[in-house]
Amino acid sequence: MIPVLAGGGTVFVDRRAHKTIYEGCQFASIRGARIERFQHDDADDLERLLRNDGSTTRLICMDGVNSMTGNAPDLPAFAEIARKYDAVLYVDDAHGFGVIGERGEDELSPYGMRGNSIVRYFGESYDNIIFIAGLSKAYSSLAAFICCPSEIKQLLKTAAPPYLYSGPSPVASLATTLAGLDVNERRGDALRAGLWEKTGRVLRRLDELGVHTPNTSGFPIIEVPLARHEDIAAVGRFLFDSGIYVTLAAYPLVPRDEVGFRVQITAANTDEEIEQLTDALGRLAATFDLQPARRPAKEAAA
Ligand SMILES: Cc1ncc(COP(=O)(O)O)c(C=O)c1O
Repeated sequence: MIPVLAGGGTVFVDRRAHKTIYEGCQFASIRGARIERFQHDDADDLERLLRNDGSTTRLICMDGVNSMTGNAPDLPAFAEIARKYDAVLYVDDAHGFGVIGERGEDELSPYGMRGNSIVRYFGESYDNIIFIAGLSKAYSSLAAFICCPSEIKQLLKTAAPPYLYSGPSPVASLATTLAGLDVNERRGDALRAGLWEKTGRVLRRLDELGVHTPNTSGFPIIEVPLARHEDIAAVGRFLFDSGIYVTLAAYPLVPRDEVGFRVQITAANTDEEIEQLTDALGRLAATFDLQPARRPAKEAAA
């Protein structure tokens, strides 16, 4: 999609955008687009670049809930800038879809309701926004979708190679998505409330241990950077031997000071498993150097 939407214009991409967005930008560049990177989550830096850009087609690309930090950008600020500069804001909320959603008085948790993603979570309109999400996270299915105006849908159907040249989504993926939507409808908010509570337990444990995580949102992706990047393989083994499977981010996948692991809590994790994890984190912190917390424990727990 990104090369088609960018055409011969400029793509403004968040420095910490997901690798797949970067690959889209590389294709866009080969096809004549200019690529500009702005500081992660920095709407002012984006505006500075937009102000100095003379192209007629402008595409801003970023993650919704970030796949590493677990935090959400200030979407209303980015949407406002997109509208002001007549740009399209492309938001990939693979990690928010199914987890966060519209806010309401009867919500069961601060994740909001219905899992209908970051745009609804912030009560934003879809003006100037193209929203995409994959289903491989909350829905555990191999498919993805796009929300966009009809003209863009027609454009993508006639110009985007994956649509023109790939086979359709497998029936099994569509079936698991339908089953997931059914679960979401019947008990999604209760599952999300449990997920929020379990995530909170892990974040509080890290605070007690004085260990840094960039997660300030309470969303269920918890990245723990190491003090010594060389330890990553040993840390992974230590956790695996403790029955904990995490995603490792080793150098050069990420810069050396961001090397660490990412814990993804799921609604299917039992209370005992969360206990096992918090216990393992305590033993890990006693064995390896993790980065120290950057804010007072009291403030973090609040
Ligand atoms: C923001 C984002 N986009 C895309 C992807 C890739 O999704 P899929 O595994 O469904 O291809 C990921 C996976 O981590 C992601 O975090």
